Amino acid sequence: MRTEQPKMIYLKDYQVPDYLIDETHLTFELFDDHTLVHAQLVMRRNPAAGSGLPPLVLDGQQLELLSLALDDRALSAGDYQLDDSHLTVQPSTASFVIDSSVRIHPESNTALEGLYKSSGMFCTQCEAEGFRKITYYLDRPDVMSKFTTTLSAAQHDYPVLLSNGNPIASGSEGDGRHWATWEDPFMKPAYLFALVAGDLWCVEDSFTTMNQRDVALRIYVEPENIDKCQHAMDSLKKSMKWDEEVYGREYDLDIFMIVAVNDFNMGAMENKGLNIFNSSCVLAKAETATDAAHQRVEAVVAHEYFHNWSGNRVTCRDWFQLSLKEGFTVFRDAEFSADMHSRTVKRIEDVAYLRTHQFAEDAGPMAHPVRPDAFMEISNFYTLTVYEKGSEVVRMIRTLVGAEGFRKGSDLYFGRHDGQAVTCDDFIRAMEEANGIDLTQFKRWYSQAGTPRLEVSESYDAAANSYRLQFRQSCPATPEQAQKQPFVIPVELALLDAQGMELPLQLVGEDTAVQGARVVQVTEAEQAFTFINLAEKPLPSLLRGFSAPIKLSFPYSRDQLMFLMQHDSDGFNRWEAGQQLSVQVLQDLIGQHQRGEALVLDQRLVDACRTLLADDSLDQAMVAEMLSLPGEAYLTEISSVADVEAIHAAREFARKQLSQALFDLLWQRYQSNREVSRTSAYVAEAEHFARRSLQNIALSYLMLSGKAEVLAACLEQFEDADNMTERLAALAVLVNSPFEVEKAAALTSFAEFFKDNPLVMDQWFSVQAACALPGALQRVEQLMQHPAFTLKNPNKVRALIGAFAGQNLQGFHQADGSGYRFLADQVITLNALNPQIASRLLAPLTRWGKYGPARQAQMKCELQRILASGELSSDVYEVVSKSLAG
Ligand code: TRP
Ligand code: ZN
Repeated sequence: MRTEQPKMIYLKDYQVPDYLIDETHLTFELFDDHTLVHAQLVMRRNPAAGSGLPPLVLDGQQLELLSLALDDRALSAGDYQLDDSHLTVQPSTASFVIDSSVRIHPESNTALEGLYKSSGMFCTQCEAEGFRKITYYLDRPDVMSKFTTTLSAAQHDYPVLLSNGNPIASGSEGDGRHWATWEDPFMKPAYLFALVAGDLWCVEDSFTTMNQRDVALRIYVEPENIDKCQHAMDSLKKSMKWDEEVYGREYDLDIFMIVAVNDFNMGAMENKGLNIFNSSCVLAKAETATDAAHQRVEAVVAHEYFHNWSGNRVTCRDWFQLSLKEGFTVFRDAEFSADMHSRTVKRIEDVAYLRTHQFAEDAGPMAHPVRPDAFMEISNFYTLTVYEKGSEVVRMIRTLVGAEGFRKGSDLYFGRHDGQAVTCDDFIRAMEEANGIDLTQFKRWYSQAGTPRLEVSESYDAAANSYRLQFRQSCPATPEQAQKQPFVIPVELALLDAQGMELPLQLVGEDTAVQGARVVQVTEAEQAFTFINLAEKPLPSLLRGFSAPIKLSFPYSRDQLMFLMQHDSDGFNRWEAGQQLSVQVLQDLIGQHQRGEALVLDQRLVDACRTLLADDSLDQAMVAEMLSLPGEAYLTEISSVADVEAIHAAREFARKQLSQALFDLLWQRYQSNREVSRTSAYVAEAEHFARRSLQNIALSYLMLSGKAEVLAACLEQFEDADNMTERLAALAVLVNSPFEVEKAAALTSFAEFFKDNPLVMDQWFSVQAACALPGALQRVEQLMQHPAFTLKNPNKVRALIGAFAGQNLQGFHQADGSGYRFLADQVITLNALNPQIASRLLAPLTRWGKYGPARQAQMKCELQRILASGELSSDVYEVVSKSLAG
């Protein structure tokens, strides 16, 4: 907890470190009621930092200093200064060795940062600034060191002792304790340090690299989970192969380990050679994990593995550069997933997520550039902007230079900066030099926050056979940035004829036409492109594949959108046309609801959905994506003032109408898909994901009919499915239905059957927390009393409280403010237990700007109450104070 107001840290104040740490020798003696950490640091003055011998200031928090020595000379209290977060020593030579011993308390660490215990095992989480809670150190990513780690613990309770790199020695101490020493030959910053001690089993495999080196692969889990590792292992091998083929990157140690832990603040962590994972991102088998969970495991395993190059071999100079590794690595894992499954479906999912959540962040009080220029608490900057928008920025670079140019740039980047801690500018420079281009203006994507808007209008000159597209870009003000300079916006587009065929594209001044799509770069506030030799007025297909993270508007008619839905040769834009049509239709209904009129659904939406459902040749995942209307959170994001009740009423009305009008088609699709599921084994691959997703969305529509045969089908699926995807979807449909008896029975039997599987119980909590039927808050409060719930486990907090506040917009935004009060209470409690989780949980309250005056006042009042609740962590303080200032 802070004792004074946290300070802002600025990128412009960056200075190279005064000292370097060539070698780090750590010894951990792990006990049940404390841990002793001895650190020997072989240090020297940084030649790049100037002359003289300034004081050495080591970071350290919540450490009990037991002894300190400089070059073997014991120091006493007068020889150093100690405060809350630093240890200051005056060296007298340019090279020296510091020895420190500290006592720490992992057994009572609920913040899950530094060294802590989870389900009886010891583990670490050091990114971003957690290593300073383990020992005194220069805890910054541009200080890289060679680590040797020895751990000792009671052999019976902790038979497995792991750290980064290779095992080089081990033995027993005779008193029931044993030890192991690990050596990591690669220089790394402290945030990549890891250790694990526990009673774990492992699944083993191996991978032969492109240079015929054998790498041992091990996934460590609690014994009862040993049957849920195969999918993660398969994903790991696919990732290793993919990074060799697509980026030419080979793995570099003899062993690669993954450890699954139950209590973890985020998804996973890329510690060198010893990735530590939230168990939710490792464990998966058909009976207990959904299709979505299988895909998440594959993506996170890939993400952390890819960090070995984009993050570890080439790391960040400072934490303002976080997107250097995160944006790039998200881009890499997204492309991997696209190659493993359906490229179009992956893009649709990612864009829907970005537009709903990152756009909201970019429009709120915590808006910041992809490379922030100031922060109070770095943990608050592991954001959708740094990760997802950062990935979009890398994607735009690839769009601008092409796949081959991008590979040349990444080869130059990895080759030139291997073993270094670098900046986003270094990444850009490699891309520029490898391709002979200038990205100066493009770099505004790294420094300007906010979502750019691009208004497009058209004019066709029949006499000249020319077609002009006029672009106007603007970007709303964000905190600290009133004015924005124009971005470089790559717009991939095609022009379609009346049959939907792509017309040849020839810009005025060009000699020849290009067949198919092309990319134009909008670089000015206003800019026009004129296409010639067009005998008829074309229909534009704009921003294909979502070629830039912007809000594009073009005055399409609904008939044009219906045409694009069927004929656009770009799959992403077919979906996008359907989304725009749905948004227009839903906005009509929202307006009708607000004016107190009877709701009337535009039949064109029904017709469009009917056409999709009737066509057996379409990708079922695409049909499912199109049938899922834009979510309430997205409809909120695109409203200037979100009307919670009207949005909900409009969407539910549209769903009911669709369900009635399309009942027969939905019922046929449901039955034939369920029949395939019933008669074949579960497979975690794209076409099977697709079949189940259409089956499950069909079921959710069908159930709105209230018909007995649908209820029977739903119960059959719930009881007989051999996989969690179908079982959970049926449960969710029941939970949202009015069949109280069946609902209660299903919830009870599910919990009884899965009570010992915490990840499945998370799903059980989430399904109920997200249910918009009246009484949501009371149900959530009751569920908090359930024996499987605890505030100490982040997965549980996310599953119940996070799902309620983030997905149940009806329940959370109850007009009496009870949802806000509840969330603030939980944040206040969690602030003391786990500041990172408390701060993340707060996000829905920071979105007050989207709502009408009454809700705004209530939300701000709760933020005020958090602020006044006592000593706040820097994490919570930063988010609350910025939200109230906005
Ligand atoms: N680097 C991790 C990733 O791959 C992020 C991460 C894991 C993290 N655990 C954390 C960040 C704890 C902050 C705090 O995305
Ligand atoms: Zn990452």
